Amino acid sequence: MCGIVACIINDKAAPVLLECIRRLEYRGYDSVGLATLSGDIYIKKGEGKINDVHKRLDLTDIPGNMGIAHVRWATHGLPTSVNAHPQTDCKNRIALVHNGIIENYRELKTQLKDEGHIFTSETDTEILAHLIEKYMKIGNSLEVATRLATKDIKGSYAIAVISKDEPNKIIGVRKESPLIVGAGEKESFIASDVPAILKHTKNVIYLNDNEMVILSPDGVIIKDIDGNTLKNNINIIEWTSDMAEKGGFKHFMLKEIHEQPDVIKNTLMDFPEIKKVVAKFSKFKRICFIACGTSFHASIIGKYLFETLLGIPTDVMLSSEFIFSQGALDKNTLVILITQSGETADTLKALKIANKKSETLAIVNVLGSTITREADHIIYTRAGPEIGVASTKTYVSQLVSIYMLVIAMSENNKLLTELHKVPDYIKQVLEDEDHIIEIAKKYKDANDFFFIGRGFSYPTALEGALKLKEITYIHGEGYAAGELKHGPIALIDDNIPVLAIVPPGKSHDKTLSNIEEVKARGAKIISVGSSTDEILKSESHDIMGLEEDISEILSPIPYVVPLQLLSYYISVERGIDPDKPKNLAKCVTVE
Ligand code: G6P
Repeated sequence: MCGIVACIINDKAAPVLLECIRRLEYRGYDSVGLATLSGDIYIKKGEGKINDVHKRLDLTDIPGNMGIAHVRWATHGLPTSVNAHPQTDCKNRIALVHNGIIENYRELKTQLKDEGHIFTSETDTEILAHLIEKYMKIGNSLEVATRLATKDIKGSYAIAVISKDEPNKIIGVRKESPLIVGAGEKESFIASDVPAILKHTKNVIYLNDNEMVILSPDGVIIKDIDGNTLKNNINIIEWTSDMAEKGGFKHFMLKEIHEQPDVIKNTLMDFPEIKKVVAKFSKFKRICFIACGTSFHASIIGKYLFETLLGIPTDVMLSSEFIFSQGALDKNTLVILITQSGETADTLKALKIANKKSETLAIVNVLGSTITREADHIIYTRAGPEIGVASTKTYVSQLVSIYMLVIAMSENNKLLTELHKVPDYIKQVLEDEDHIIEIAKKYKDANDFFFIGRGFSYPTALEGALKLKEITYIHGEGYAAGELKHGPIALIDDNIPVLAIVPPGKSHDKTLSNIEEVKARGAKIISVGSSTDEILKSESHDIMGLEEDISEILSPIPYVVPLQLLSYYISVERGIDPDKPKNLAKCVTVE
């Protein structure tokens, strides 16, 4: 949800800002802008994706060794050049980039207009530039004026601001939107997340809410919102800058799909850590999973696992719905929040509510993200940075963490042994890529797809449909196969491919019957199942087969991979950039 970067370096800043902001493009790509300071403030900004705007405007053609940059996912005001950040004050002496939402912007705007401020954009962000202007005008420094301005606003923000009146200084502040500080040797950075600056420094300070950073050529100073200096808690990041590169793949998404065998192996290495965490969990009588999007689908598998293997009643809630219905949270309930980014606003809000009544565990991929500071217990997934907007490798790493959690609680060593074989099963799927490309070509023009599965394959059906919608813009509906006859079957005809997830096991025969039902109404069947399953083959028009049989309980991990690849290749066939699908952002920091 918007990405921001700022730097003070020894070289020309604009090319470095551009390179860093490119790594945040997954957060928003409606428009992009840079401002540098070199005597004057120089701004270049425009509507569209970074490459297009850069081609039109040459974003690097502005002087100075310090500046700020932004990619936007529009909330207030259309994605136009005028609404692109940086936003400025009346006299262009202050420039500012912002990620978040200013909730009281209407009243502040009216007030500032009454005081004579002239607004040029429809953004909430511009208010902040004018507020800082107002406080500087009466003699405050940029730092104090920024502090006073943030005290006037309600909402969430991560900002970076520069002023012509105070060269050699960049101020950053955070409240409920992510902001990290990179403390390099003689070079300092601010960014929305770590991958943006990994090429320049691995020394990172995670800002807390209501903290401020002052960048200058002398280094970084962290203060609280009342101006008291705080200790610089520097974390050394293990992620490498290569991890945030495409590494020869056409898209990040394809690279991330291919990384999954290694991601699983890395995540599995944390089993001893997970055993330590669960040592405290025997008292819980109930589990409640909370998550959004793909992480929600991982949570449904969590429910099936906790109930099947441990007999613990388990709820699954969407984070955005949790505020309306919280069930019976109490001290006997463990609330498990799943989030790749650790910054999803709805999930953070749910966490605040849950923390008051129950113990909370976060399963999260991004080190130092907000959720890691607010949940009682943390399990990190080891997926490395995920750049493609549609989650792939972080989903399988979440699944592996949940399986490990349940295995540790149930001491089911047999399942642990089998879990270690999953990377090899996935490698086999990846070897079948050419076959999946052919299937993608065959079905790329369909307008609607159904994804069906039962039991452990039901969440996989939901996830397959979500991937399709996200990156191909084809309508995909995920359904519990047995539920199809209660309505959706009315939609089935010979124009609708039905993707059936049919691993060997308990659900197999019943799902086959559902395949028969939709075939009788003309549907084309694409199935995912065992390549030795002759009945399934004879019932399917196309099959994406797995060479080895895996127990049904573990099938959600390898079985999602053909679905990821199918959506990826349909997206490419339809001329879409799967890394940056329209209207989406990887990290949704607004409710
Ligand atoms: C966004 C992303 C999804 C993701 C969801 C939850 O909608 O586009 O891919 O699944 O947020 O994100 P989280 O970081 O909380 O897992």
